[in-house]
Amino acid sequence: MQQPPIDQTEIEARIREHEEELLLLWTAEQGGAAKDRDLRLVTSAIPFPRDRVLRTADLCCGPGDLGRAIRRNFPNAQVDFVDRDPLLLSICRGYNRHAKVPGTYWQLDLNDESWYRSLQLGHYDVIAVANAIHWLSAARAQAVFSDIYRLLDEAGTFLFAEPAAPEGLFAPGFAEWKARQPPRYEHRNWKAFWDRANSLIGYDHTELLGSRTDSRIGDQMTVRGWIDLAQTSRFQNIDVLWRDADIVIVAAQKAAAAGLVGDGGAEGDATGDSELSSR
Ligand SMILES: C[S@@+](CC[C@H](N)C(=O)[O-])C[C@H]1O[C@@H](n2cnc3c(N)ncnc32)[C@H](O)[C@@H]1O
Repeated sequence: MQQPPIDQTEIEARIREHEEELLLLWTAEQGGAAKDRDLRLVTSAIPFPRDRVLRTADLCCGPGDLGRAIRRNFPNAQVDFVDRDPLLLSICRGYNRHAKVPGTYWQLDLNDESWYRSLQLGHYDVIAVANAIHWLSAARAQAVFSDIYRLLDEAGTFLFAEPAAPEGLFAPGFAEWKARQPPRYEHRNWKAFWDRANSLIGYDHTELLGSRTDSRIGDQMTVRGWIDLAQTSRFQNIDVLWRDADIVIVAAQKAAAAGLVGDGGAEGDATGDSELSSR
């Protein structure tokens, strides 16, 4: 994405005290009750004891709903909030500060091949992504799944919720059925969030996000396509936890004794911007 005309500090100053309002508008835009159900399912499926000091990453966190949902089920979880967007990361950090949710913040772009090197290889129990990998091309998504595999500890879990299309044969009937379902996404909710955010920050942030006509996956990947990505990246115990008119939720596991793949990574060099140790 293009860089905003103001820096992170100025973004934070302009949205200060409005983080909760923005978060409510964001959650409605992302599906409201349906999103809440997705987050509950994803966090319930995490196969670790609830009192564990769970090492997690909310990848492409936006304002951080998924990371906070994990903290609700795992009160000792350490959450790395990762996103490329300085505005959405600012909402995440600001809201968390008010809500006293600890976290570490990383501004990283998954289109940058070295993104994962800022993080610690073999470190995470859980890496979760909601509604974001489809912003990448299929080739980048494949590479990022492999990066996620490297970042997970042995027996670590990867969970993702992404848009899914039906296989071609079933597409017409599926579309007919979907048209009769209540829509998850509504333009007026998208507009309500961005109108408010833009009025606070003083420029049109949506113009920085890139074109929807580029090579991104969008809503065209089938459930089989998502599973293939996970299988090709060597994940095991792959399961579809949920599928509805809009999304599929998939869980997968890194093999218990797989060892680490590749090299590099920060290996303990936690330089993220934490509530505990700010840059
Ligand atoms: C639809 S939002 C979902 C955000 C969040 N996961 C949620 O459920 O509310 C997609 C997110 O992916 C992030 N994103 C898109 N492409 C990215 C990239 N290449 N690297 C990092 N983050 C990216 C966007 O900035 C945005 O926060």
